[in-house]
Amino acid sequence: MKMIKLETPIIVLNEKTYNESAGAQGLRLAQICARVAAEQEVSIVICPQQVELARIVAAVSIPCFAQHVDAIEPGSHTGFVTLESVKQTGAAGTLVNHSEHRLTIADIAFIVSRATSIGLLTIVCTNSIAVSAAIAELKPYAVAIEPPELIGTGRSVSKVDPAIVEDTVKAVRRIDERCVVLCGAGVTSGADVRAAIELGADGVLLASGVVKAEDPRAVLIDLASGLK
Ligand code: G3P
Repeated sequence: MKMIKLETPIIVLNEKTYNESAGAQGLRLAQICARVAAEQEVSIVICPQQVELARIVAAVSIPCFAQHVDAIEPGSHTGFVTLESVKQTGAAGTLVNHSEHRLTIADIAFIVSRATSIGLLTIVCTNSIAVSAAIAELKPYAVAIEPPELIGTGRSVSKVDPAIVEDTVKAVRRIDERCVVLCGAGVTSGADVRAAIELGADGVLLASGVVKAEDPRAVLIDLASGLK
C-alpha cells in the first residue's frame, strides 16, 4: 500500500476541539496553514476536528491527519472512528494515543499495524523516554514526545525540558533509525521550534499557540522561521 511521504522538518498542528478550530473557523485556519506552508516553503500538517476532517482534506493541499482513531475493525460499533473511514477521507494519517485520548499498548499496536497495511501514517504521542522506546518497537511513522504537564502552558518542552527531547531522539533512533521524532507541549514560537530541531527532533506538534492566537498567520510564519 502506497504511503503519502511527508517532508521533514515539519510542523504538525493539532487543532483539538477548541471553538476556534470548529466549523467555518476551522476551515479558515486550515486555509491559513496551507497558504503559509506554500509561501514559506515549509512542511505543515494539520489535524482538524474529527467531524471536519473530510471537508478540510478536500479544501486544502497540505496533508491532514485525524486526531484519533479507535482500535476496531469496521462493523457494528457506534460512535467510533475506524482507520478505514479516515483513509476514505483522503487523510494522510492519524494521531494516536494523545495524552488527552490515551489508548492501551495493545490498541496502539493494532492501530499502527493496521494503519501501515492500508497506507496511513501514524504519529504516536508518548509521555516519557521509556514509553517512546516501547512505541518505536511498533514501527510507527513518528513518535511525538509530549510531557502532559507542559501542554497548553506556553512553556516549550524544547526549552523547559531539553533532555527529554534529546534522550527520546536517541532512544527512538537506537530502535528504528527511520522513525520521525517530534516534540510538543508549550511550543509557541520560532525559537521554540529551532530549539527542538537543534536537539535532534524532526519537528514539533503543537496546538494552542496557533489555534488560540489572535493572528494565527503571524504565529505560523514565526514558527516556520524556526525550521529554516
Ligand atoms: O498535540 C499538541 C499538544 O498536546 C500540545 O498542546 O497547546 O501545548 O501546543 P499545546
